[in-house]
Amino acid sequence: MDSKENEGFIHIFDTTLRDGLQSPNITPVPLKDRVLIGESLAKMGVNIIEAGFAIGSKLDFDTIHTLSQKGFDSTICSLARTLDEDIIAAGKALKPARSGRIHTFISTSPIHREKKLNMDKQQVLESTTHAIKLARNLIDDVQFSLEDFTRTEPEFSWKVIEMAIKAGATTINLPDTVGYTTPDEYAALIADIINKVPNADKAVFSTHCHNDLGLAVANSLMGVQAGARQIECSINGIGERAGNAAMEEIVMALTIRHDVLPYKTTIDTKNFMKISELVQELTGMDVQKNKAIVGKNAFAHESGIHQHGMSQDSRTYEIMSPKMVGQSASELTVGITSGRAGLKKKMGALGYQLSKGDLTTFYLAFMERAAQGRMNDKKLHALASELGLKCLT
Ligand code: KIV
Ligand code: ZN
Repeated sequence: MDSKENEGFIHIFDTTLRDGLQSPNITPVPLKDRVLIGESLAKMGVNIIEAGFAIGSKLDFDTIHTLSQKGFDSTICSLARTLDEDIIAAGKALKPARSGRIHTFISTSPIHREKKLNMDKQQVLESTTHAIKLARNLIDDVQFSLEDFTRTEPEFSWKVIEMAIKAGATTINLPDTVGYTTPDEYAALIADIINKVPNADKAVFSTHCHNDLGLAVANSLMGVQAGARQIECSINGIGERAGNAAMEEIVMALTIRHDVLPYKTTIDTKNFMKISELVQELTGMDVQKNKAIVGKNAFAHESGIHQHGMSQDSRTYEIMSPKMVGQSASELTVGITSGRAGLKKKMGALGYQLSKGDLTTFYLAFMERAAQGRMNDKKLHALASELGLKCLT
């Protein structure tokens, strides 16, 4: 870690353009759109942008290279296996960067060592050291990941980490590659590393949590509480299988619950809605309506009880203002759980001043219609017209 003052500062490492674009069923994203996403990430204050896997494809190489030429404040990062050709390609792609990082990784868990790599522990250690030294010859900022860290024997992970730091890695990433860990377990694994690895104070530790059990954000936050100072995440949580920890959820948790999570980031949260929509549009990966922070329903209220609370004070049912995340306003929607007050307000916004009697008539007719299907503004106008109600706008 850099200094005492930085202890509460969390580096936000975005992997939308790398792990995110590895999502199954994603629409291919061409270079110009990748650059657009990279520019938006830089603009909103992301500290490290993982722009691709340089050796993986020409498109990845070109994305890293193009973003490296932009002179952003953000560090541009390329993924690389521990193979020489990967590291050399990453170094080349990052050459123009004002600040570049090579992120090299190797699997460390028994199942990955035996079934995927066909390597023993010693070979993993040697490959790690070799790759990091080679990367450090090309660039000062080298990150090392222990793929499938959470299923690795803890004692072996300590040894790998100690060697990786000794070889020159400045950031050590601890991926929950298969989304298997739990918050307490992940925190304990990280705390043990910080306490037991002799040179742990010479590196920044990082979380990288997948969401297979829906725990990616919780695990990342617990990782921070255990001492990690970098969080890897993606916009809308896109990534392999169930995805990665969602940046908007992590940053808003740190912002809204600063009382219990006293950490700072450089992210301008007002950009979340816009970048979420951009990533949805360019990748074809739509978020569900009830997605935290950026979903259509995140600031919408339909039931009578909630609409009543909201009409008195938005803090009754909202823990943050929609403006904080770039949503223009809360939304009042109407359906079969809505009450008369909510319906009156909605019809008022559409231009109808309903008397008590008109409201009763309209409410009863609305309830019948709404039970048959969703009511939109057009249908509300049509129903009002059927009932002879006059629109004043
Ligand atoms: O999930 C993972 O382990 C990864 C690594 C390459 C960091 O994405
Ligand atoms: Zn991953």
